[in-house]
Amino acid sequence: MLLVQLSDPHIDLDRPGKAAAFARAVAHVNALPTAPDAVLLTGDCTEHGTAEEYEQFTALLRTLTVPAYLVPGNHDDRAELLRRFPPPGPALPGFMQYVVNDHPLRLIGLDTHRPGHGEGELDSVRLNWLDAQLQAAPAQPTLIFMHHPPVMTGLDVMDRIGLQGREALCDLLLTHPQVLRVAAGHLHMALTTRFAHTTVMTCPGTDTTLLPELSRPEQLLVQRQPPLCLIHAWSEATGLNSFTQAIAPTPWHALFDGRRWND
Ligand SMILES: [Fe+2]
Repeated sequence: MLLVQLSDPHIDLDRPGKAAAFARAVAHVNALPTAPDAVLLTGDCTEHGTAEEYEQFTALLRTLTVPAYLVPGNHDDRAELLRRFPPPGPALPGFMQYVVNDHPLRLIGLDTHRPGHGEGELDSVRLNWLDAQLQAAPAQPTLIFMHHPPVMTGLDVMDRIGLQGREALCDLLLTHPQVLRVAAGHLHMALTTRFAHTTVMTCPGTDTTLLPELSRPEQLLVQRQPPLCLIHAWSEATGLNSFTQAIAPTPWHALFDGRRWND
């Protein structure tokens, strides 16, 4: 079973580079030698959560030749997402939080969206639902995907928009060792860390990978590197392996065209 994770396209009508990058990411997935079973899209589909941005996002996503499973990020509008992409499996009412039972690796999407806030949250309603889902299939290998990673990065500005409820999620997952991976986004960075009995990985954005300078936690001093996606491959023989893969090389772009700057 093969999954491709893409994250944080941030479609923005004022910054056409975001849509172009997302189109390249979709084309990259469509051109893979082995078609994945699905794409996981871990939030921040749009920059401002407007209907016009979702129109463009949806049009681009329609060109994907495999199913996509989405969860909302802090930049998203939950209602817009729910209207356009109804949960593909048993869901928590009012949230974009659901289980996909169609594959040998069970998938659980968590909704960490907190309207009007950059930080994310998992309150008792969402955590209790997760606990019940995991209790129902304790022997089934499971991947959880969500926007806000349950980690502390050490970067002040990122940790201020981190995940509320992180400790409670850790306690919960300690009782459910079938969770093999927590796949998140939000940071636009490639980060891997231990969490409860599992491993958290973050997928960078579809337009760039940020490499942070960690010695200045009060700043966010970054180097912009080419975008990456994660390939989560599961089989009985190997368990869950996650590969990091560059999204197809980007074309030449006139960041400054002699007259003005272009994002
Ligand atoms: Fe983002």
